[in-house]
Amino acid sequence: MQSSSATQQNTFADDVLRGLSSDPKFLSSKYFYDDEGSRLFQEIMKLPEYYLTKSEFEIFSGQTKEIYEAFGASSAEFDLIELGAGDGTKTSVLVDYFLKQDIAFTYVPIDISEEALNFLTEKFRTQFPNLLIQTERGDYFRALETFKSKSDKRKIILFLGSNIGNFGKAQAQDFFVSLRAVMNDDDLLFIGFDLQKDPRTILSAYDDSQNVTAAFNMNLLTRINRELGANFILEDFSHYASYHPIDGAARSFLMSRKVQTVSIEALNKTFEFAAWEPIFMEISQKYNLKMIEDLARASGFEVAGNFYDNKNFYTNSLWKPN
Ligand SMILES: C[S@@+](CC[C@H](N)C(=O)[O-])C[C@H]1O[C@@H](n2cnc3c(N)ncnc32)[C@H](O)[C@@H]1O
Repeated sequence: MQSSSATQQNTFADDVLRGLSSDPKFLSSKYFYDDEGSRLFQEIMKLPEYYLTKSEFEIFSGQTKEIYEAFGASSAEFDLIELGAGDGTKTSVLVDYFLKQDIAFTYVPIDISEEALNFLTEKFRTQFPNLLIQTERGDYFRALETFKSKSDKRKIILFLGSNIGNFGKAQAQDFFVSLRAVMNDDDLLFIGFDLQKDPRTILSAYDDSQNVTAAFNMNLLTRINRELGANFILEDFSHYASYHPIDGAARSFLMSRKVQTVSIEALNKTFEFAAWEPIFMEISQKYNLKMIEDLARASGFEVAGNFYDNKNFYTNSLWKPN
């Protein structure tokens, strides 16, 4: 039997093989968050251009009571499950408020990144010594499979940070349909959607002037070098971001600056790159209200309410099964 970290490693290798053998080439953004990736993402969240975290934080801190009431959090004991929890900064605002109301709940953060989960657990244990916390490391697609058998308590599921933006539209619907299938009628889903706005505002969030986003993308090549024995030369790639206002999607790429061959020992393979060939790294889909309502309905939910920041840059949308 393989250890879970060996299984994880195989998945990483398999996914890199699949991505770099495709045309166009791609790498999955779910592997961004090793130690350095998690650190860089925390830097990104502090950048003046990266409005997403500030907008969502404003919603959580300015409307905590309203969110608590909309969750019906005082009615019965529940599991507060967070998919792709990261450093849990916004969730800590809710957790703090919930603990002060003296309600019974268990916080269940799920994340593929061991580093992110360790950081979050340590932070929450110090900040909230009385919090019941049950971490789960792994892909949230897999985590769904165990949802029904997890506990018979009510589930309030958080999917924050515009994580849903990293799915294409069809994949987002498939994901919510799978989620609906493992939810009971009184469970709730709370999702962070980045809204469509001035394309320049969006683009600069993914192309910051200090090049932290570029370093964040490049770090995945460093991770492949380290964990899979590859020989990517970082200087031979450059980061490029785009925003397409018709499909509402920001995309990040690493462009090969020249004709080159990269070998990956763990795959026993080499990969050819043409000059200026892209590796597609990440999609960040932006939504409008109609898209959110259509997506909820098509996935078996109805929108119970939307919470906005002052600039209407972002919404946290509360969905209940219908
Ligand atoms: C953009 S960060 C957002 C973190 C946090 N939700 C927030 O709002 O700040 C994405 C997080 O989701 C995790 N993640 C991405 N894809 C995942 C997957 N398929 N399964 C589990 N975790 C995933 C990453 O490791 C990272 O911690």
